[in-house]
Amino acid sequence: MRIAMIGTGYVGLVSGAAFSEFGVEVACIDKDKAKIARLQKGEIPIYEPGLEALVDSNVKAGRLSFSTDLASAVREADAVFIAVGTPSRHGDGYADLSYVYTAAEEIAAALNGYTVVVVKSTVPVGTCREVERIISKKRPDADFDVASNPEFLREGSAINDFMRPDRVIIGAESDRAEQLLRSLYRPLYLIETPVIFTTLETAELTKYAANTFLAAKITFINEIADLCEKVGADVQDIARGIGLDGRIGRKFLHAGPGYGGSCFPKDTLALVRTARDKGAPLSIVETVVRVNDERKRRMATKIVEACGGSVMGKTIAVLGLTFKPNTDDMRESPSLDIVPELQNAGATVRAFDPQGMAEAKHLLPNVVWCEDAYDAMKGADALAIVTEWNEFRALDLDRARTLLKAPIMVDLRNIYRPADVAAAGLRYVSIGRPAAEPPPRAARASG
Ligand SMILES: NC(=O)c1ccc[n+]([C@@H]2O[C@H](COP(=O)([O-])OP(=O)(O)OC[C@H]3O[C@@H](n4cnc5c(N)ncnc54)[C@H](O)[C@@H]3O)[C@@H](O)[C@H]2O)c1
Repeated sequence: MRIAMIGTGYVGLVSGAAFSEFGVEVACIDKDKAKIARLQKGEIPIYEPGLEALVDSNVKAGRLSFSTDLASAVREADAVFIAVGTPSRHGDGYADLSYVYTAAEEIAAALNGYTVVVVKSTVPVGTCREVERIISKKRPDADFDVASNPEFLREGSAINDFMRPDRVIIGAESDRAEQLLRSLYRPLYLIETPVIFTTLETAELTKYAANTFLAAKITFINEIADLCEKVGADVQDIARGIGLDGRIGRKFLHAGPGYGGSCFPKDTLALVRTARDKGAPLSIVETVVRVNDERKRRMATKIVEACGGSVMGKTIAVLGLTFKPNTDDMRESPSLDIVPELQNAGATVRAFDPQGMAEAKHLLPNVVWCEDAYDAMKGADALAIVTEWNEFRALDLDRARTLLKAPIMVDLRNIYRPADVAAAGLRYVSIGRPAAEPPPRAARASG
């Protein structure tokens, strides 16, 4: 079996490498010549734990290759996956499908023998039918089926998510397409992964339903956190208290600065648009979008308030810029709202992120870029944790106190126990938990 993966980004590269690990011959294709040149030299253009070793071993085994030559790869493939981006269209929130449709045109021109064209990108309901129409129009002679196979991997744990998924969703409407995709995913049958075969429309919509549900779950706990702050309750205990109920589940109940990333913001918006267009508005999702947008901006105010109501002329140390740990992806990260708001309020921002700074430098002007967490803290009037990288979970708090000009920590990810931070002599402000004040100096000294 041979496949072509069109689009070698976060999804295409991980999926391509993982399929090659399953024993399939995979050609990963991208229009971005620089990206392909790096991959051909053995360099991985993104940060994703475990990816370098997976790519390296499969390239060495001769099962994984990288190229800009879409036509040759498609000609030889039994299945062609479309894994190109579907960002928000500027201004209106609809998914921009131009990359998908361009890829469909290019694939059509090169089809050779029976081929299944599999849409892996997240696309609004109806897109697979349009891909079918584009290909049939360009190549009425082509022997092909279109299938939908939305991807659920998460950046940061992408390889495990792909190789041990909770489920696989496949929209396929011919026996031939179904059989081909069954054999491609055979290794997952061996570990008893549920595989749901359904229609194109259902598969497309399943992906959006999943992402918007998760976005709603995060937004729900974030609003509960706001209420906790007003009434003196602890959102983490509440999350545990409700999460242990099997009907609710424990995951995605971490209060924080609002969801970001390359998927939730654009997918919630796109589903809102589809639902309105079809006359079945999703008012829950519309509210989730609004509440989350407001929240990201409000996080800067939280930091300002922790600094006594003004950051004019002050310096804020910001730890973590990516939208979550273990990725270098900055798309729609809360830091992109928080840092400029702090700067607009008159603050200087000293920032550090373990993997995101190369990308962040293009997106966040006038930031003082630091060597590490402690470098960022030097002379700062407050420390703000924006992304919960592991290396920020066990900071030397005594050292932090001596480096900071004012002993204030704002933890937007709740990674510390309030009592521990207060005991180290820092005022601690987190999300949905009472602020913790340090004990008087004398008490600290005597332990
Ligand atoms: N990133 C995630 O965590 C994630 C998870 C699940 C689903 N998805 C979905 O998967 C899709 C891809 O997302 P991503 O994050 O990998 O995007 P990405 O921007 O990282 O990668 C897309 C790649 O496609 C390439 N490309 C565009 N048009 C092309 C063409 N005609 N031929 C060849 N290459 C082309 C681009 O150069 C780019 O390298 C999106 O629809 C996204 O919503 C993403």
